[in-house]
Amino acid sequence: MNTVNVADLDWNLLWQQEKSKKTWQEKKACDWDRKAVSFAKRTASSSYVDKFLSLLQPRPQWSILDAGCGPGTLSLPLAHMVRRVTGLDFSGKMLEILRQKAKKKGLQNITTCHGSWEDDWQKLQIPRHDVAIASRSLAVHDLQAALIKLSAHAREKVVLSDRVKHGPFDPDAFAAIGRPLRTGPDYIYTLNLLYQMGYLPTVAYIHLDETPAYSSFSEALSGFTWMFRDLTNDETKRLKHYVESISTIAQDGTVTVHRRHVPIWAYISWIPG
Ligand SMILES: C[S@@+](CC[C@H](N)C(=O)[O-])C[C@H]1O[C@@H](n2cnc3c(N)ncnc32)[C@H](O)[C@@H]1O
Repeated sequence: MNTVNVADLDWNLLWQQEKSKKTWQEKKACDWDRKAVSFAKRTASSSYVDKFLSLLQPRPQWSILDAGCGPGTLSLPLAHMVRRVTGLDFSGKMLEILRQKAKKKGLQNITTCHGSWEDDWQKLQIPRHDVAIASRSLAVHDLQAALIKLSAHAREKVVLSDRVKHGPFDPDAFAAIGRPLRTGPDYIYTLNLLYQMGYLPTVAYIHLDETPAYSSFSEALSGFTWMFRDLTNDETKRLKHYVESISTIAQDGTVTVHRRHVPIWAYISWIPG
């Protein structure tokens, strides 16, 4: 009988192999630029932020590096709770939204940095912070290199959130329009890789099990269309039909959507060596 030795598994390679089977390949900065406004709108009302922050328990004296910060989903609330925040992202549009929102809120302790995971962070002059976080943003080619980089930029703690199984995608929506769903490697690879790298990560799970409410059906539908590229007319019809079948419309026109598979995120934290 062939035996498998766990210590011989190369989790970075397994992760890369699984990633190459994804339906979509990685989005570029310009793709995120295009999505920035709708992404900011969609995440603003999600319970994800409160759940992440209650696990993080921010301390007032902390400086925090938020890698792949997007439109400030966490950087903005964190800036009210900690000493200072650095938001790094390769999408200029995401950073623009973050800066606009920070200005509106009168926040002066956020620094933005236009750069990518792959850039030389020393050249970007990103110093070591007390805590480094990467929330739903580990879109890299070399996971191990990203984990090393993140760990090297934190003194006290590193935190990332990673998909559990299908993550924010809805398998029923894919089945409804007849497209396969291959979302690539989930958190279990990251967890094993961190262990192999000598860390003792802890994991908690963020279940987004609230029933989302939208002000119109077209808004509810847009909560699903972002999952697909280049929908045909026929696919759009089938998707509409599916979303209608799981929606309830209240008398005031509010649309609530009941998904069978709710998004789950793994909240992984470790102490950098
Ligand atoms: C799903 S959003 C997450 C944003 C925010 N952290 C949150 O949890 O809402 C992913 C973010 O990562 C950024 N991103 C993706 N790949 C990146 C890369 N290689 N370098 C820097 N940022 C990247 C995108 O521009 C986007 O803002």
